[in-house]
Amino acid sequence: MVVLAIESTCDETGAAVACGFGEPKAVEILSDVKASSAEIHAKYGGVIPEIAAREQIAAIIPVIQMAIENAKLTIDNLEAIAVTQGPGLIGSLLIGVETAKALAFAWKKPLIAVNHVAAHVFANWIRPSTGSDTVAQLHSGTPELPAVALIVSGGHTDLMLLSSLTGWKWIGGTRDDAAGEAFDKAARAMGFPYPGGPMIAKAANGAKLELPAEMKLPRPMIYEDNLEMSFSGLKTAMVQQIANGRWHMDNDEDKSMLAHEFNQAIVEVLVKKTMMAVERYRPKCVLLAGGVAANALLREGLMKAVIEAGKVFFMPDLKYCTDNAAMIAACALLRPDYVDPLKLQPNPGLEIS
Ligand code: KG4
Ligand code: ZN
Repeated sequence: MVVLAIESTCDETGAAVACGFGEPKAVEILSDVKASSAEIHAKYGGVIPEIAAREQIAAIIPVIQMAIENAKLTIDNLEAIAVTQGPGLIGSLLIGVETAKALAFAWKKPLIAVNHVAAHVFANWIRPSTGSDTVAQLHSGTPELPAVALIVSGGHTDLMLLSSLTGWKWIGGTRDDAAGEAFDKAARAMGFPYPGGPMIAKAANGAKLELPAEMKLPRPMIYEDNLEMSFSGLKTAMVQQIANGRWHMDNDEDKSMLAHEFNQAIVEVLVKKTMMAVERYRPKCVLLAGGVAANALLREGLMKAVIEAGKVFFMPDLKYCTDNAAMIAACALLRPDYVDPLKLQPNPGLEIS
């Protein structure tokens, strides 16, 4: 099946064309186009929903046109239209959903509703591009189930057990801030623009020194025998250290060392809790997903731990970690949820399933 997928949950407008092949299905991306208003939001230190939605109205039709053109296909070749139903910002979701409904109705194509968070996980079924970092060398197939998935994005930090493509169970996650949210809040406290995760990861790269024990940040809940996490206290501890004058944010070396320590603290907790889930549930594979999956320390750290535990590790190509329409297409191809084009409504609080 050839599907056109539309994604508009936050500050990005995406459209992708993809097809599925083989059994279990692998997903081939024929085109993937993205317009982002992130540069505008950077000035405000976060996404302004009204601005995001206005930019999306202007971008959505050209982005869809370009996705079909780049795939070298015509409207006749499309067999279904997929769109993100939620979770996300209501104004942004409405633009994607209403556009998809209108196109499905006018072009007489079936409409598929997609859960954005589940779609992040389905990015692991996309065939890696040749020449991509370590992803292509990890494996040549698609994930075998059962699998444990670590989903780390701006709004989510969850551990899920996937027994089948449709049988998902929440087994752990954060009690408060999501990992991406913690990165973004910490970055703001350090004076970095939004989105903060990539800025902290980049600044951390320059740091060489290990910190003395008294300067270390906490690794919240790391030794607790459960799959729960908490990241809000970690950010508070960091803000306190800055307020106490231990770190000077006008000094690049201080900034780099603090970024390194913060990055390390989050990644250590994520790796430890995922490996605890692996011990408990003994899956065949471990899947990494979500915007924070673009973090190099997390990619390397989790890959090493999973391989040492004798399991198969999957992570998406970097370009399919942060929000994109290719993953929406992947979810639609693997787990199609057909809906009535006249009835679909966006759901900003949609739970993962
Ligand atoms: O999945 P995503 O694109 O959007 C949501 O669905 O939330 O995730 C965005 C989050 C942001 O919080 C961003 O700071 C974080 O992913 N992020 C990173 C990195 N790249 C993006 N966090 C840490 N390291 C990165 N390299
Ligand atoms: Zn996302």
